[in-house]
Amino acid sequence: MSYPQMSLQASLQELLLEAQAYLSLFHHECGIPEAYPERLTRMQAEMERTGSYWHTYEELAYGAKIAWRNNTRCIGRLHWKSLAVRDMRHLETAEEIFTALVEHLRLATNGGKIRSMITIFAPAVPGRSGIRIWNPQLIRYAGYCQPNGSIIGDPSHAGLTDVIRRLGWKGGAGTPFDLLPLVIQLPNQPPKLFELPRDVVLEVPLSHPDYAWFARLGLKWHALPVISNLRLEIGGISYPAAPFNGWYMGTEIGARNLGDINRYNLLPLIAEQMGLDTRSDRTLWKDRALVELNVAVLSSFAGHGVTIVDHHTASRQFLRHEELETQAGRTVPAHWVWIVPPISGSASPIFHITHYKNTILKPNFFYQRVPWQGPLQQSITLLTQKNLRNATASHVFRE
Ligand code: ARG
Repeated sequence: MSYPQMSLQASLQELLLEAQAYLSLFHHECGIPEAYPERLTRMQAEMERTGSYWHTYEELAYGAKIAWRNNTRCIGRLHWKSLAVRDMRHLETAEEIFTALVEHLRLATNGGKIRSMITIFAPAVPGRSGIRIWNPQLIRYAGYCQPNGSIIGDPSHAGLTDVIRRLGWKGGAGTPFDLLPLVIQLPNQPPKLFELPRDVVLEVPLSHPDYAWFARLGLKWHALPVISNLRLEIGGISYPAAPFNGWYMGTEIGARNLGDINRYNLLPLIAEQMGLDTRSDRTLWKDRALVELNVAVLSSFAGHGVTIVDHHTASRQFLRHEELETQAGRTVPAHWVWIVPPISGSASPIFHITHYKNTILKPNFFYQRVPWQGPLQQSITLLTQKNLRNATASHVFRE
């Protein structure tokens, strides 16, 4: 037997074991264990015939919910059962996929009353690249590098912004909050760009209940966080394009996105507006600015009727989730570093629980290769001739 055949056998064997494990879990948790043996037989037969198998809608939907439940980086897992699952495995073109993504934004935003939702596109076929959405989230703000090294917009998306421009995007208006177009790539095809219709992106202008000057800063954030670059794995089947969303916890925006030094870095500006003494760290000007920025985020979202949760409530809900899971005979694996809120850590009960185990169970969501950082040759063939003319490898493929 030659090596390639051996590895093919090994991966089939692996797929079979993963499929067995998930289908058994599915039938047990759904209270239909008597249906398991027959399903197992059908799955094995299908695998012998085709080298893979196709999930029923119920298996797909329940698998996506468990992937959320198993994700150790999420504090919001109390709501795992309420995930709405859209089966879009039949879509075949980038245009159809884009339309489904726009529809996802509409349905999940729901006028501000946010619904947790996942849209699942076709699974990866072994030995071939799958469908990829290049953007880490469906709604992201561009980061434009300036000649002096500074960045207008979101610095964490400067790399992606650069790549998208090289794919032909002319750039937006140049504000700190320009929406990036979506990049959708089908297997063995060049990536395609799609501009989001403005009206599907709900945004919240930020103001502060006590500081009139706050609104004049012109800050805002989008209502919906839809993660679009993780691979969903259920029963050995990979879904490399399966964007999903919950609603925001305030600190994600108020502490991290707007406060982090390598993001919008707004604490100095806010502290200055508050009249704080920023010359010494000991005045705790950063802490005071952080708190007010977070007050602004929470009250602005609430004022605009957009779902958001504060970190104290989210912490309590997480403990409730643990209680319910314990009652169901399961433990809750968690990554402490991720689920302790980034401000006022010790005021959250989670901070004081130190026994969490970061065990990775499946189904789950996994990181995958950054699409534009693939092997050089592969990426070059994906670029159009036009793009190639004004790009050299070194500055196209930089991180
Ligand atoms: N932290 C990310 C952001 O601010 C979003 C991650 C997912 N968050 C969520 N609440 N589901 O954009």
